[in-house]
Amino acid sequence: MVRFLFMAATVNVNGRTFDQEHAAISVFDHGFLYGEGVYETLRTYNGQPFLFDRHMRRLRTSAGMLALSVPLTDAQIDARFRETMRAAGLGDAPDREAYIRILVTRGIGELTYDPVACPTPSIVVIVKPNVDPAAEVFERGVKVALVPIVRNHPGSVNPLIKSNNLLNNALAMQEAFRRGGFEGIMRNYRGELAECTQSNVFIVKNGVALTPPIDAGLLPGITRAFLFEVGAEAGIDVREAVLKDDDLFGADESFLTSTTREVVPIVQVDDRKIGSGVPGRVTRALLNGYRVKARALTARQPTVL
Ligand code: PDD
Repeated sequence: MVRFLFMAATVNVNGRTFDQEHAAISVFDHGFLYGEGVYETLRTYNGQPFLFDRHMRRLRTSAGMLALSVPLTDAQIDARFRETMRAAGLGDAPDREAYIRILVTRGIGELTYDPVACPTPSIVVIVKPNVDPAAEVFERGVKVALVPIVRNHPGSVNPLIKSNNLLNNALAMQEAFRRGGFEGIMRNYRGELAECTQSNVFIVKNGVALTPPIDAGLLPGITRAFLFEVGAEAGIDVREAVLKDDDLFGADESFLTSTTREVVPIVQVDDRKIGSGVPGRVTRALLNGYRVKARALTARQPTVL
């Protein structure tokens, strides 16, 4: 099975753009030394970074939780995205949508946890061609693994922080890979369902889509929040609920959401089928609603002559 596709990246490091081979950062950057940093992943629709404002808000919230400043305005970050996309030859045609990742780290400094040692945060923007999951992922749905790695306790490294320190997620995903899962669902320290390693999780029961509350200790996904709005417009009730294993195994449907995956039907968890084992009606309606709304919100205004 091909798990990933190699795609050359274009990278902006502190304002200078490089091809992937020449993009480098100091080993004394505290992002590398201590995992001290935050990130956001965006993608474009119609060449526009989708839900840019929401991603910037979450970036600043994450950074604030590490007492890290983001020394650029949203307009400056937007300009940097567009400059990097231009250099990559992306974002200017329907078949050239971009994947955009921005990382902000503590910066370069002495070997100490004292933030004073790092006066200047490092800012890296990675742009690559956006690659959607294969069509069959959406058409047939995926198998995921319910893994034993517990999601970080909110009193430890709070999952609210979209942190570059991704060991919790990487360990959980390694286990999911071992079990042949497309994703790994993690529980919180109370044993409730929390989220997947790179996406949020939903179940559908009696026509209602349910997802664990933020209080369960998870990343407040931007796709997750957007789906509440898509649901409201489509007449589908989408809300939060504390969920346990039994809710998942007894669900009519299940799906996961993320920026890069939109809405992916989950049809199997380890060796157990979910619902009828095919993508369900509610999941398909939400995926369709999501795509229509994403394209409509980013549609270019016709030029008035
Ligand atoms: N992942 N939960 C976790 C742990 C995530 O890493 C992500 C996003 C999500 C979904 O968030 P959003 O809908 O805002 O993309 C939930 C991104 C895509 C990544 O790691 O690249």
